[in-house]
Amino acid sequence: MEIDVLMGPAEFERLAGRELPGVVCVVFDVLRATSTAVTALTNGAEGILPVATVDEALAAWRGDPDLLLAGERGGLRIGAEITGGREFDLGNSPREFGRDRVGGRRIAMTTTNGTRALRACAGAERVIAGSFLNLGAVASACLRAGAEKILLVCSGTGEATALEDALAAGAFCERWMGRGDFGDAAWLVWEAWNVAKSDLFGAMGRAKNARRLRSIPELSPDVELCLRVDCLDGVPCLGRDGWLRMGEGAAVPRGLDPGRDSS
Ligand code: MLT
Repeated sequence: MEIDVLMGPAEFERLAGRELPGVVCVVFDVLRATSTAVTALTNGAEGILPVATVDEALAAWRGDPDLLLAGERGGLRIGAEITGGREFDLGNSPREFGRDRVGGRRIAMTTTNGTRALRACAGAERVIAGSFLNLGAVASACLRAGAEKILLVCSGTGEATALEDALAAGAFCERWMGRGDFGDAAWLVWEAWNVAKSDLFGAMGRAKNARRLRSIPELSPDVELCLRVDCLDGVPCLGRDGWLRMGEGAAVPRGLDPGRDSS
């Protein structure tokens, strides 16, 4: 099985609209979209519709007013000044997606990079939302999937590569060591992970998105929260209908409910 890495938007945008038979895409947006998605689904959300724009999210909500609207621009919850009226119900912090808030609900979600990356991969045989939180579960699900190729898709920050996504891809490669045929980019992220893994939190001092989140007091705790490795067992998969739902290995949190303490 071939394993390769797309380092950011310039690479993953080329996938948009293409059929990718035999390919499993694992999309990483560690800070924070895919970490938030696995948290929400673990906490009982029925499904998440990742959409690229605020207008698409609003259109989905008009078609189904029971939908919760979630997402960020500049890291902050989308407010009335952006939508022209309807404030979003949730931002993009995993701490907001507790069972009390999202249990049994469907959510339309738009974030700067993560939902865009998920959408770009829609032609793959399987699209999985990966993060440090569910890393082991995702690595095992890929093993069982028996695909010809695994593409690790780093969502990035803006138009650039994001260190935290590359490190998560490297951590995934570590789990696959000796099992896959690594492309050069896979070796590159694996090397980076080996340098950073003894102090992942410290490494975030060099990551642009982490520094931005840390500079906003109400979002700062998200960085540490999203760096916890293997605390969730769910594997969110994108369906052909465009909805992200728990796939195989679903919803078995190891006694953790990262959203539980949210207000
Ligand atoms: C994104 O999708 O670009 C990120 O999740 C941004 C964020 O940290 O909210």
